[in-house]
Formats: sequence, C-alpha cells, structure tokens
Amino acid sequence: SSSCPMGKTAQEKGFLHVPECYKVQPVDRLRFDSKIADIPTIDLEGMCDNPTRRREVVEYIGNACRNSGFFQVINHGISQSILDGAISTATRFFDLPNAEKAKFMSNEVQKPVRYGTSIKDGLDKVQFWRVFLKQYANPLNDWIHLWPNNPSDYREKMGDYAVAVQKLAIEIMGTITESLGLGPTYLTTKLDDGMQVMVVNCYPKCPQAELAFGIPPHSDYSCITILLQNSADGLEICDLGDGSWKLIPVVHSSLQVNVGDYLEVLSNGRYKSVVHRVTLNSEKTRVSIASLHSLGMDVKMETPKELVDEGHPKGYKESSFNDFLVFISKINLDEGKSFLSTLK
Ligand code: SIN
Ligand code: FE2
Repeated sequence: SSSCPMGKTAQEKGFLHVPECYKVQPVDRLRFDSKIADIPTIDLEGMCDNPTRRREVVEYIGNACRNSGFFQVINHGISQSILDGAISTATRFFDLPNAEKAKFMSNEVQKPVRYGTSIKDGLDKVQFWRVFLKQYANPLNDWIHLWPNNPSDYREKMGDYAVAVQKLAIEIMGTITESLGLGPTYLTTKLDDGMQVMVVNCYPKCPQAELAFGIPPHSDYSCITILLQNSADGLEICDLGDGSWKLIPVVHSSLQVNVGDYLEVLSNGRYKSVVHRVTLNSEKTRVSIASLHSLGMDVKMETPKELVDEGHPKGYKESSFNDFLVFISKINLDEGKSFLSTLK
C-alpha cells in the first residue's frame, strides 16, 4: 500500500520495504556514495583558564567555521555520565508505546514540546524516516514541567544535559565572536536569555536505507547547533568547497557543532550555515539530540557594523526566532525553501 502511516513510524507498522510515501528521488543512492568527512576536532581543554590555549582554540574554531561550517569538540567539560544519561532516557522514551508518545503530538510549530513522525505529520509530501520530540529548554524552569515524565528519569537526565550544553554553547559562541573580532562576551547575555530548542531524534533502522531520508537537506535556524549522538552514524554535511555529501563519523564522547543561519547573519557571510541531511542505517537505530541556540523569541539577530565594509557589504536582513517560526508554519521543509534564503 502507498498510504502514509500517520502517528506511527514505518518500523512500528512493521514495513519490510520502504513505502512509496517515504521514497526520495536523489541522483545518487543515499549515504553509499558519500565519503567520510575529515572534520576538524578541537580540544577545549584549558580554554577558559589558559590564555595561550584560548588563543589556539579561538583560531581553530574560527578557521573551522570559515572553512567547513562544522567541527567537533572533545574535552568539552560535559561528563560521560551526563551524555550517557541523556541518550539512555531518550532511547527509552522512543521505546514507549505509541499512545504514550502521541500525547505530545502536534503540527503546531509554536508548541514548546512537540512530538512528530515527520516535519509536519500528514502534510509533508514526502515522509521522513524519523520520530522526534522537540522541546524548549532555556531557562529550564520555564519548560521542564512540560517535558515527558515517562521514563521517570527523563526530566532529570535530559535536564542535566540541557543545562550543561547551554553553558557549553555560550562558551563556544564566546570563542566564535572573539574570532570575528567582536570580543568573547558580545552575545553572552543575549544567549543566556535566548532560545534553546532541543530536538531529540530517533531514526529506526531502515531495511532499504538508500531509499529514504531521516531528514532532508536543510540548514539550522540557530547560531550554533550542538549534537550528541549514539553509536550509529547518519549525519551528512554538504562540503562548502565542492558541494559533495560527507558522512560525519561517530567519535565517542565528542560533540558536533555546526554553524547555523543566525551565525551566518552575524558574521556577514564569513561563516556559512552548513547544509546537512540525515541518512539511515539498515542495522542500527540512531538516536541523536540536537541543541539549537539562538537569541530571545523577539530579539533580532543583526550584522554588527564592525563586520560591514567595502569588501563585505551588508548581506542579510535582521530576523528573530519568531520570524523563523512564522516562516516554518507557512511552508513545508520538503519543498526545499530555506529560511536563510529569505534573509538575503
Ligand atoms: C539535524 O537536526 O539536522 C540533524 C540531527 C541529527 O544528526 O540527527
Ligand atoms: Fe539540522
């Protein structure tokens, strides 16, 4: 049958083959034609208290943002038990019966906690091989009571990770604004008061992984996105140089960081919001947690005058997180329109 299963993953319906409504028509078979990305790995050890180390980190991160739009960090200060706790409770959330998860189901993109099985259930032309729970997280006390409390440790484990990753995002953004010549605290207060959206993803193993997307190509509406993943790979980035797709390998204990739309605006195009997509595994279910950091709901990101000159004319309109929500509520991601293109 070609009917789209609403509210259940294809796996929950027990499909042995990818139904028509999930199939994409890429030029190449997904994932199998992608090379492994050689992405910069940045050691954050000593970044906060050793000035020499900090200068190195600022330089490496600046270069990575400029050349790849993507890097990974090690010795980032978030303990393995916090990382494992978040992935573990997320995995157990997705293992719950469908009725339990469907309590959070909605197509309203403004909802602070929202469960779905595609970008917009029943509305997207192509369905994606993913279930997700999106949750607002900063400040934690405003949102945590809306999060799932089944599994019983969900709020505690996910909350510990949320707080730790928000702190890390602000530290990394400090090195990024420093690398742009804006100083280490240029955005600290605005990020402290800003939106943190966590997208908790599950990509069930897929019998014909080359035929369906976990998430189609897009860029993130964040300043930066920090990604935690289990042992299954799947994230691919579009190489800023030659436009080819590169698979991001999983490195235990590391976190992946990508440049988002608002950082491209801030940097006046010096740093590019990297286009990425998620491909599927035939053997393993992938669980990931993406934490997207931006300014407050109605606070506009604008390009500072320091970064505008004859060689770099102002290239972007200012916009807020709310502007993004208005945009996304009107379009479907599978139509291929990007928020960033509306700012140019
Ligand atoms: C994304 O949020 O675009 C990708 C997250 C993932 O790697 O699963
Ligand atoms: Fe993304």
